[in-house]
Amino acid sequence: MLGNFCYSNPTRLYFGENALDFLKEELRKYGNTVQLIYGGGSVKRSGLYDQVCTILKEEGKTIIEDGGVMPNPTVDKLYEGCRLAKGHNVDLLLAVGGGSVCDYAKAVSVSAWCEEDPWEKYYLRMEDVGNPVIPVGCVLTMVGTGSEMNGGAVITNYDQKRKIGHVFGENVFPRFSILNPKLTYTLPKHQMTAGIYDIMSHIMEQYFSGEDDNTTDYIAEGLMKSLIHSSRIAVKNPEDYEARSNIMWTATWALNTLLAKGKATDWMVHMIGQSVGAYTDATHGMTLSAVSLPYYRLICPYGLPKFRRFAVNVWDVQTEGKTDMQIALEGLDRMEDWMNEMGLVMSIRDLGVEENMLEGIAEGSFVLSGGYKELTHEDLMKILKESMR
Ligand code: NZQ
Ligand code: ZN
Repeated sequence: MLGNFCYSNPTRLYFGENALDFLKEELRKYGNTVQLIYGGGSVKRSGLYDQVCTILKEEGKTIIEDGGVMPNPTVDKLYEGCRLAKGHNVDLLLAVGGGSVCDYAKAVSVSAWCEEDPWEKYYLRMEDVGNPVIPVGCVLTMVGTGSEMNGGAVITNYDQKRKIGHVFGENVFPRFSILNPKLTYTLPKHQMTAGIYDIMSHIMEQYFSGEDDNTTDYIAEGLMKSLIHSSRIAVKNPEDYEARSNIMWTATWALNTLLAKGKATDWMVHMIGQSVGAYTDATHGMTLSAVSLPYYRLICPYGLPKFRRFAVNVWDVQTEGKTDMQIALEGLDRMEDWMNEMGLVMSIRDLGVEENMLEGIAEGSFVLSGGYKELTHEDLMKILKESMR
């Protein structure tokens, strides 16, 4: 049975080859000073930075440069962005880049006018926003996180060895997001496939919970099937527009709050993956791929009907003459084949994890209770050891 819920998403999305044409009319809704946020240089190499600057200048905007946002943005970078935003009293934070750039913009949005330390308030104490927020707009260049249409903002504090996401409310969602699938063509294969697995993981972590027959789970299965199909085309031909556009749209739907409506959610792969990230600064999607199979094989017996359904509905496993457990495990084997086909990282050792980090990574993994089994410390250590294969 679906639980009670309210669904609303305030982000205005422009999708397609000409999506950037709509930036002008969005800019007109905000004041004069725009903090232009981007990463380590991909937008300059692709020419997108120049295109966006031209549009900003044509609209008479004052540009406050805020480049160099790193993958897995840090708390120190956040403080720097806040000083800029507050110092120039900016009217709009325009994020041009991937999930890290969008997340960082949202973190600056809630932190610039915050009287307290934002790391402590939003990430350690998980408190709500009480101060004014600065509007965020987004031009997306990397697909996976869903950050373009949600309130998530993940920040890493390497001194404290913690990578933490805060899911902020609707007033922090991007006011608009511009999604042109062609802007993702320049992504290195490693980033494209990491993003593909991030999408898969977002869907699975909302799917593997509850045992009811509800619409949300059918939507999740459809999204997974579309993703698997398009991913196989995109790894062979990264410039296949149909595949890249399907992946981009699937990513948005995977984490724009829809799939979580009316049901419990799991999120343990992300909790473990983020803790791996706090120790290694590894690519987000790869931290998820490296820990997923040991996790799912461990919890499979506790959610057997759903794992059986996943095998049949998503991976087309034949059921004749097999037990439910055999069917369920065959589904996970098919997923493993697909992950290898994508070239995903399957071991945390390959991400730089060493044996002496495992206890700390387990300690840093927040244990949530929405999935089929609430993990013990021993469970976490077992998953991590198996992920060292
Ligand atoms: O920094 P630049 O030079 O732009 O290069 C980036 C970066 O090195 C590059 N890139 C992006 N677009 C490109 C490109 N290179 C060539 N052509 C392009 N078109 O790709 C690299 C990775 O970018 P990044 O933004 O870090 O990747 P992603 O989008 O995967 O974002 C990862 C961050 O998002 C958080 C993660 O934890 C991580 O910090 N997440 C945010 C979520 C949310 N808001 O809901 C949920 C996710 O689960 C995730 O946790
Ligand atoms: Zn993710």
